[in-house]
Amino acid sequence: MIDMQGEGMVNTGHQSFFTYRTREFVAPYLESIMARGAGGTVLDVGCGGSAMGFEVLQEGFFDLVLTDVSTEIIDIMRERFAGDARVRVEVADCRQMTFLPDGAADVVVDKGTLDALSGDDHKRDMLRECAR
Ligand SMILES: C[S@@+](CC[C@H](N)C(=O)[O-])C[C@H]1O[C@@H](n2cnc3c(N)ncnc32)[C@H](O)[C@@H]1O
Repeated sequence: MIDMQGEGMVNTGHQSFFTYRTREFVAPYLESIMARGAGGTVLDVGCGGSAMGFEVLQEGFFDLVLTDVSTEIIDIMRERFAGDARVRVEVADCRQMTFLPDGAADVVVDKGTLDALSGDDHKRDMLRECAR
Protein backbone atom coordinates (compact mmCIF):
# COMPACT_ATOMS: atom_id res chain seq x y z
CA MET A 1 0.00 0.00 0.00
CA ILE A 2 1.24 3.49 -0.82
CA ASP A 3 0.45 6.08 1.81
CA MET A 4 0.74 9.82 1.16
CA GLN A 5 2.30 11.44 4.22
CA GLY A 6 1.78 15.08 3.39
CA GLU A 7 3.38 17.14 0.68
CA GLY A 8 6.19 15.43 -1.12
CA MET A 9 6.33 12.20 0.88
CA VAL A 10 5.21 8.69 -0.01
CA ASN A 11 5.54 5.68 2.29
CA THR A 12 5.55 2.32 0.49
CA GLY A 13 5.53 0.38 3.75
CA HIS A 14 9.25 -0.33 3.39
CA GLN A 15 10.70 3.09 2.79
CA SER A 16 9.70 6.75 2.47
CA PHE A 17 10.43 8.68 -0.71
CA PHE A 18 10.20 12.28 -1.77
CA THR A 19 7.85 12.49 -4.74
CA TYR A 20 7.88 15.06 -7.54
CA ARG A 21 7.07 18.46 -6.18
CA THR A 22 3.80 20.32 -6.47
CA ARG A 23 2.98 23.73 -7.89
CA GLU A 24 3.30 25.21 -4.41
CA PHE A 25 6.98 24.29 -4.49
CA VAL A 26 7.62 26.34 -7.64
CA ALA A 27 5.29 29.23 -6.69
CA PRO A 28 8.04 31.41 -5.16
CA TYR A 29 10.08 31.14 -8.36
CA LEU A 30 7.04 32.05 -10.45
CA GLU A 31 6.40 35.10 -8.32
CA SER A 32 9.82 36.49 -9.23
CA ILE A 33 9.13 35.82 -12.91
CA MET A 34 5.68 37.41 -12.75
CA ALA A 35 7.17 40.45 -11.01
CA ARG A 36 9.16 41.11 -14.19
CA GLY A 37 5.92 41.38 -16.16
CA ALA A 38 2.88 39.14 -16.40
CA GLY A 39 2.04 37.01 -19.39
CA GLY A 40 4.15 34.99 -21.71
CA THR A 41 4.30 31.37 -22.71
CA VAL A 42 4.83 28.32 -20.50
CA LEU A 43 6.47 25.23 -21.99
CA ASP A 44 6.13 21.89 -20.19
CA VAL A 45 8.71 19.41 -21.54
CA GLY A 46 7.88 15.74 -21.05
CA CYS A 47 4.52 16.74 -19.60
CA GLY A 48 3.19 13.20 -19.27
CA GLY A 49 -0.29 13.39 -17.74
CA SER A 50 0.79 16.03 -15.25
CA ALA A 51 -1.33 19.08 -14.41
CA MET A 52 1.75 21.13 -13.47
CA GLY A 53 2.01 23.04 -16.77
CA PHE A 54 -1.68 23.96 -16.66
CA GLU A 55 -1.43 25.05 -13.04
CA VAL A 56 1.50 27.29 -13.93
CA LEU A 57 -0.49 28.73 -16.88
CA GLN A 58 -3.20 29.72 -14.42
CA GLU A 59 -0.71 31.79 -12.44
CA GLY A 60 -1.21 34.53 -15.06
CA PHE A 61 0.54 33.39 -18.23
CA PHE A 62 -1.05 33.70 -21.69
CA ASP A 63 -0.55 30.27 -23.12
CA LEU A 64 0.90 26.82 -22.60
CA VAL A 65 2.77 24.38 -24.83
CA LEU A 66 2.63 20.77 -23.64
CA THR A 67 5.13 18.38 -25.20
CA ASP A 68 6.04 14.76 -24.73
CA VAL A 69 7.77 12.13 -26.85
CA SER A 70 4.93 9.69 -26.15
CA THR A 71 2.16 9.83 -28.74
CA GLU A 72 -0.15 7.97 -26.36
CA ILE A 73 0.06 10.55 -23.60
CA ILE A 74 -0.10 13.42 -26.09
CA ASP A 75 -3.36 12.02 -27.49
CA ILE A 76 -4.77 12.02 -23.96
CA MET A 77 -3.57 15.56 -23.28
CA ARG A 78 -5.00 16.77 -26.64
CA GLU A 79 -8.36 15.39 -25.64
CA ARG A 80 -8.08 16.87 -22.14
CA PHE A 81 -7.36 20.37 -23.43
CA ALA A 82 -9.44 20.33 -26.60
CA GLY A 83 -11.35 23.59 -26.75
CA ASP A 84 -8.85 25.55 -24.67
CA ALA A 85 -7.24 27.88 -27.21
CA ARG A 86 -4.46 28.73 -24.76
CA VAL A 87 -3.09 25.18 -24.78
CA ARG A 88 -1.03 23.74 -27.63
CA VAL A 89 -0.13 20.04 -27.41
CA GLU A 90 2.70 18.56 -29.49
CA VAL A 91 4.58 15.29 -29.76
CA ALA A 92 8.22 16.33 -29.48
CA ASP A 93 11.59 15.11 -28.31
CA CYS A 94 12.71 17.64 -25.71
CA ARG A 95 16.24 17.47 -27.15
CA GLN A 96 15.04 18.84 -30.47
CA MET A 97 11.89 20.93 -30.33
CA THR A 98 12.20 22.19 -33.88
CA PHE A 99 8.60 23.44 -34.03
CA LEU A 100 9.45 26.17 -31.52
CA PRO A 101 11.36 29.27 -32.63
CA ASP A 102 14.08 30.73 -30.40
CA GLY A 103 12.64 32.66 -27.46
CA ALA A 104 9.23 30.98 -27.77
CA ALA A 105 8.96 30.11 -24.07
CA ASP A 106 9.14 32.45 -21.11
CA VAL A 107 9.00 29.68 -18.50
CA VAL A 108 10.00 26.05 -18.97
CA VAL A 109 8.54 23.44 -16.65
CA ASP A 110 10.31 20.10 -16.24
CA LYS A 111 9.06 17.67 -13.65
CA GLY A 112 10.92 14.38 -13.98
CA THR A 113 11.96 14.56 -17.63
CA LEU A 114 15.63 15.48 -17.21
CA ASP A 115 15.88 12.53 -14.82
CA ALA A 116 14.29 10.26 -17.43
CA LEU A 117 17.01 10.99 -20.00
CA SER A 118 20.03 8.72 -19.90
CA GLY A 119 23.47 10.18 -20.35
CA ASP A 120 24.97 13.63 -20.01
CA ASP A 121 24.81 14.32 -23.75
CA HIS A 122 21.04 13.85 -23.84
CA LYS A 123 20.56 15.96 -20.71
CA ARG A 124 22.78 18.70 -22.17
CA ASP A 125 20.79 18.66 -25.43
CA MET A 126 17.53 19.05 -23.51
CA LEU A 127 18.87 21.93 -21.42
CA ARG A 128 20.21 23.64 -24.56
CA GLU A 129 16.79 23.37 -26.19
CA CYS A 130 15.05 24.71 -23.10
CA ALA A 131 17.43 27.65 -22.89
CA ARG A 132 17.11 28.85 -26.46
C1 LIG B 1 8.94 10.76 -15.06
S1 LIG B 1 7.81 11.16 -16.36
C2 LIG B 1 7.26 12.75 -15.80
C3 LIG B 1 5.98 13.17 -16.47
C4 LIG B 1 5.39 14.49 -15.97
N1 LIG B 1 6.27 15.61 -16.20
C5 LIG B 1 4.98 14.41 -14.51
O1 LIG B 1 5.44 15.21 -13.71
O2 LIG B 1 4.18 13.53 -14.17
C6 LIG B 1 8.93 11.57 -17.70
C7 LIG B 1 8.23 11.99 -18.97
O3 LIG B 1 9.23 12.35 -19.91
C8 LIG B 1 8.84 11.88 -21.19
N2 LIG B 1 10.05 11.77 -21.99
C9 LIG B 1 11.06 10.87 -21.89
N3 LIG B 1 12.01 11.12 -22.79
C10 LIG B 1 11.60 12.22 -23.49
C11 LIG B 1 12.16 12.97 -24.55
N4 LIG B 1 13.33 12.65 -25.11
N5 LIG B 1 11.46 14.03 -25.02
C12 LIG B 1 10.27 14.37 -24.47
N6 LIG B 1 9.68 13.69 -23.46
C13 LIG B 1 10.35 12.63 -22.97
C14 LIG B 1 8.15 10.56 -20.90
O4 LIG B 1 7.30 10.16 -21.96
C15 LIG B 1 7.39 10.90 -19.62
O5 LIG B 1 6.10 11.41 -19.89
